[in-house]
Amino acid sequence: MTTVTIANRKGGVGKTVTTWYTARWLARMGYRVHLRDEDPQRGLWDIAEMLGHPDGVITQRLQLVEPPRSDATADFVLIDTPPALDGSLPVLAEADWILVPVIPETQEVRQLEKFLNTLEATHMARPFTRLLGIVPVRYIKTWEAHQAMLDEISALAGEFGHSVFAPVPMSKAVSRYSLAGGLWKPVAERLAVLHGQEVARAA
Ligand SMILES: Nc1ncnc2c1ncn2[C@@H]1O[C@H](COP(=O)(O)OP(=O)(O)O)[C@@H](O)[C@H]1O
Ligand SMILES: [Mg+2]
Repeated sequence: MTTVTIANRKGGVGKTVTTWYTARWLARMGYRVHLRDEDPQRGLWDIAEMLGHPDGVITQRLQLVEPPRSDATADFVLIDTPPALDGSLPVLAEADWILVPVIPETQEVRQLEKFLNTLEATHMARPFTRLLGIVPVRYIKTWEAHQAMLDEISALAGEFGHSVFAPVPMSKAVSRYSLAGGLWKPVAERLAVLHGQEVARAA
């Protein structure tokens, strides 16, 4: 089982939709995926309800689970987190991987730097947790400012030795939670590769 915590200290940076989409793609690829909503605002539950699954059972392979439900049968557990997340929170220590979404704008990038510093400073508390990468979201290709911010994100990631996923474009598909356009698919593909390596090592 691979546990991924989606985190950023800021609100409104795409944590919940990144969690949702990555899980959808992983389930589509054939994995059993559990979603855990650790945000008291319960954004994942809102999405499930909106799509007609108030019980959290999205498909046979994809479900939202409430603790203390066991995750033993899942290939992946994806955990959505609240903003203002402190670097030492248990859901970070629990993760194999941390995934950090960010909007390519000035304030967000400043906050990202602080968050990466916090993660670095609290690394001792969770030595086995690695950063899967930073995923820029709501990217508007025609905005020069967004391009400049992508460069800053890359530079920042380079300083910390982290990788950056291809930016997820601003898209109307997100308001319907539709998979059209392959949004966030590269994140799931990366996780599938890592999961395969993990399974091979364990064998
Ligand atoms: N690529 C995108 N295209 C369009 N809207 C997006 C995109 N990414 C995020 N959003 C929207 O941005 C808002 C904030 O995203 P959300 O996942 O709720 O952030 P957080 O969980 O960090 O508070 C939501 O309304 C979401 O639908
Ligand atoms: Mg959220």
